[in-house]
Amino acid sequence: MRGSMARQPGKIKVLDSSTIDRIAAGEVVERPASIVKELVENALDAGARQITISLEEGGLVSLSVEDDGHGIRFRDLPLAFERHTTSKIATAADIMQVASFGFRGEALASIASVSQVRCVSRLADEELGGLIEISGGEITRREPAPRNSGTTITVRDLFYNVPARRKYMKSAQAEKRAIMKLMTQLALAHQDIRWIVKSGSDIAMDLRPAGSLTDRARDLFGASVMEHMARFEMEKGGFSIGGLASRPTWTRGNREQQFIFINRRPVENRALSQAIVQAYREVVPTGRHPVVIAFLQVPHGEVDVNVHPAKTQVRLLLEREIFGRLKNALSEGLSLKQADELRPWRGDVAPGTAGEAGERIADAQDDYLRRYFQRGGSAGFEFKGVPAGQGELFGASAMRATGSAEEIDGMVAGVSETPLHSAPFWQLHRTYIVTQIRGGLVLIDQHNSHERILYNEAKRALEERGETGGIPTQQLLFPAHLELTPGQVQAWQTHAEQMKAMGFTIEPFGGQSILVQGIPASLKNWNEGRLLLDMLDDLAWDDKPSQENQVDLLASYACHGAVRAGEPLTIPEMQNLVDQLFATDTPLSCPHGRPTLIQYTLEELEKRFGRT
Ligand SMILES: Nc1ncnc2c1ncn2[C@@H]1O[C@H](COP(=O)(O)OP(=O)(O)OP(=O)(O)O)[C@@H](O)[C@H]1O
Ligand SMILES: [Mg+2]
Repeated sequence: MRGSMARQPGKIKVLDSSTIDRIAAGEVVERPASIVKELVENALDAGARQITISLEEGGLVSLSVEDDGHGIRFRDLPLAFERHTTSKIATAADIMQVASFGFRGEALASIASVSQVRCVSRLADEELGGLIEISGGEITRREPAPRNSGTTITVRDLFYNVPARRKYMKSAQAEKRAIMKLMTQLALAHQDIRWIVKSGSDIAMDLRPAGSLTDRARDLFGASVMEHMARFEMEKGGFSIGGLASRPTWTRGNREQQFIFINRRPVENRALSQAIVQAYREVVPTGRHPVVIAFLQVPHGEVDVNVHPAKTQVRLLLEREIFGRLKNALSEGLSLKQADELRPWRGDVAPGTAGEAGERIADAQDDYLRRYFQRGGSAGFEFKGVPAGQGELFGASAMRATGSAEEIDGMVAGVSETPLHSAPFWQLHRTYIVTQIRGGLVLIDQHNSHERILYNEAKRALEERGETGGIPTQQLLFPAHLELTPGQVQAWQTHAEQMKAMGFTIEPFGGQSILVQGIPASLKNWNEGRLLLDMLDDLAWDDKPSQENQVDLLASYACHGAVRAGEPLTIPEMQNLVDQLFATDTPLSCPHGRPTLIQYTLEELEKRFGRT
């Protein structure tokens, strides 16, 4: 019953200090994991080399953090638990430059106001240590006590005096999971520390100091994951970004194994997560996520950790800049690493001996590619053959894609039943097209190549707008109705005319929605509209001058529209793709400058097999 609280509506009162403390505690102390985080950060700030965390029932019954840091002077023990008492900053001006984890002098006071706390500590140069016990913010015991140099803080009965919060605690299991995730972050960020986590009578984690991030990551994730990880690194103008990330061969169903640190603090920042998505967009199927451990070092003045009381959300003064750098560091660092994946693959495709029919096809194929390679393979190449007509590359299958799934499956099955030795084009790992040329063989990256084709075609359509009428449109069997966000609407309105020339037929459909009736004929599929939404998302960030804007539009279209690694292609599709690639005037690289193909000459092969 409320009556007993004698609440008078409309009367404004000053809250007493213990109520104020408990409200403030709510901001820092959300759950056991947030207490562990604060206590561990204090231990790190104290220069600890070994930190032991002990949990009972996921920390709900009790948790303690023990360190071998410099300790707290006996005389100062009560001070440590008062609000706004800190040894880490002296003036407001220090705040923008803090390098320590704590500085507000708030964590211990907050924790002590909602639990029973015991702290035993000894300053390195004091004879004896001391202990203090605090219950609901009041000191209940304080006396000298022996201890090695360092500090142990034990927290019991969390929220015993805030029943409303206690009720909302999750299960011990869920709390333990949250703590283990935190410990993983801490262990990655602080490789030189010995970390021990005890849960009841179990040892949940015991990590010896590691010499490198790779060693620590191996201890945490296992050696088999590490086989798929590559290092990346980038440094420029006071910023540096580096870490480990999985190659596209290793992905997971969620983002649990993505870790981003700014100045060694684990952070959650939407833009940075998005940078990972974009870096891998072309190589990882939708819904799959790479493992990423990224450390960003930015000058202390550029990051505001004060935004969130638990300091996990940061405001980056140069968010856009850092977003681009992380994305580049990942995509460049990883494509470099892909080249050393030359181990043999014991897959189900064994190259057969070319039969007579196969030879004839291969010969024709040879002629065609030879003409290309004889001219040095770049500018000045004149293609004499008849380029495949615009819109025929994937048009037919895109139409079917809106029709029946079985048909597609049938097509795919048809490919694998085709005897391989008669196929002039083979698809490897559903990613590369391999074909024989007289002088050797070429490996063609299906995504990069299709990107180049789409980009050049759309660029021409925009340049010749009005004269020849742009790219042909394939009408969708069923017009698609898409709901847009305000940012997407703005992006579409900015680019509506250009998108029309590129072959999209789009009409406003009331409110924030649009009706898509046709798409460029050269697309293989548009994923029920996801292509458009992804493009508009990319462009919603754009506030560049219109010249650069057009490049962004084209790049985004090519990137999202191109067939991905992992998509099966039929032989005619491969043939068309290669035809159209060589019909462009820049067939050797994709719009981002990555190669579209790699050539292996017979001489090279002979040399490597010791035939010469
Ligand atoms: N494990 C520890 N070893 C040594 N000193 C400690 C330890 N934990 C706390 N202290 C001392 O107690 C003070 C108060 O700690 P508290 O965590 O409340 O504040 P803070 O770390 O300064 O700032 P924040 O509230 O941002 O964490 C610290 O400034 C530090 O001097
Ligand atoms: Mg602290």
